[in-house]
Amino acid sequence: MITGGARNIGLAVARDLASRGASVASADICRNLETVPYSLATTDDLEKAVAELASFGGQAIGLKCDVRDESQVVSTVEKVIAEFGKLDILVNNAGVISLFPISDLTASAWNEVVDVCLKGTFFCCKHAVPAMIKQHYGKIVNISSVAGLRGLGLSVHYAAAKHGVVGLTKALALEVSDHNINVNAICPGTVESPMLQGLASQINLDRDAYEHFSRGHLIREQRITPQDIANAVRWLLSEESRFLTGTIISVDAGWLAGG
Ligand SMILES: NC(=O)c1ccc[n+]([C@@H]2O[C@H](COP(=O)([O-])OP(=O)(O)OC[C@H]3O[C@@H](n4cnc5c(N)ncnc54)[C@H](O)[C@@H]3O)[C@@H](O)[C@H]2O)c1
Repeated sequence: MITGGARNIGLAVARDLASRGASVASADICRNLETVPYSLATTDDLEKAVAELASFGGQAIGLKCDVRDESQVVSTVEKVIAEFGKLDILVNNAGVISLFPISDLTASAWNEVVDVCLKGTFFCCKHAVPAMIKQHYGKIVNISSVAGLRGLGLSVHYAAAKHGVVGLTKALALEVSDHNINVNAICPGTVESPMLQGLASQINLDRDAYEHFSRGHLIREQRITPQDIANAVRWLLSEESRFLTGTIISVDAGWLAGG
């Protein structure tokens, strides 16, 4: 089960797993949020994603789910287990960002970012873990951000949420290790994404958005793509990484090397 699976990083992860024979459930909100300055995925995006995933020959389902709403998460997890018979993998990828100086950051802008990124990750873990305990197997990968390990400008809410995801990852890893469940997180640097243009317009940026938001990258000749994140997720889901739990991996073109 992959949240925010209708496009970009979530879709790259779903595609990567489907192409290797996994049954994949993509869960996505499929509507916009009031304070987020770019469009989120649509129902059409989710349908197209599922059609592409199914073309690999395995099972693929798309589920509309707002991860901020616990009852929607409960019914989504139930549907996935009803459809596939088990839930081996949870990738908590759904996330949103907006840019505001703290004095302009409204409670609703704070809530939308923190609730999608952090509360959504909590709800999905809460309702997936019992099934994983029952089957004595599970792999959870949470998508945090470099903003989960350092501060970035105009985004105290995003940094708070993504630091929270790092803390949740470590604490949950301790809690479920006896049940053969690995819980890890990935912190991407700037990844090519539809969100970058929306953020650029919020701060009236007049230069290339990727160039601007990836100023901290040490590796500058190439851009981080959604597939680069999917590659790291795949490794964390594989038996090759079986001794990793509670670990935070940065895929950030060296950004965090400078602190
Ligand atoms: N793109 C980057 O530069 C970057 C960098 C670091 C971390 N990240 C993180 O990676 C993840 C994916 O980002 P992306 O670049 O693919 O962004 P994106 O906006 O392209 O994709 C996010 C997906 O999440 C979905 N979503 C949003 N709110 C949701 C909700 N409440 N419930 C369910 N689905 C919801 C959206 O519809 C969208 O399909 C996010 O957690 C983001 O914070 C991205």
